[in-house]
Amino acid sequence: MKFTRVYLALAAAAAGALLAHDPAVAASVENGKTAFVKHGCWQCHGFEGQGSVTTSAGRVIANTELPEDAFAAYVRSPTGAMPPFRPEILSDSEVADIYAYLEARPKPQAAKDIPLLNNQ
Ligand code: HEC
Repeated sequence: MKFTRVYLALAAAAAGALLAHDPAVAASVENGKTAFVKHGCWQCHGFEGQGSVTTSAGRVIANTELPEDAFAAYVRSPTGAMPPFRPEILSDSEVADIYAYLEARPKPQAAKDIPLLNNQ
């Protein structure tokens, strides 16, 4: 009984690993990081998607609350200062991977949990 459970867990983990490495099947955080750097998103948004005060892209895009389709739509047809990224340059699967990368960024700590900010 216990053996069966371990076997099933291993099989599920192996299947998950296989899926994660096929960009056509599942978005990949690793590929997303590569695409984020390759396509220069970092130049305006910072390597962690933390935003920047010097590029007017101060908006944080890490852990974005935008749903994936709205995110992809914005990247294709931005309405402000951001340049558009067409599918010939940035594929749909790369956009999905970038989204996965940004969603996997660690959540910021609450100010009350940072000792230095509460050191009065
Ligand atoms: C030349 C600078 C620049 C580059 C390069 C750039 N962006 Fe942006 N991005 C901006 C600016 C500025 C905004 C704020 C809205 C606007 O002016 O378009 C923005 C906004 C966004 C938003 C909307 C955020 C929100 O909450 O509404 C998303 C999503 C986004 N960028 C993703 C990307 C991705 C993904 C890439 C790389 C493929 C990228 N950006 C590359 C400048 C840039």
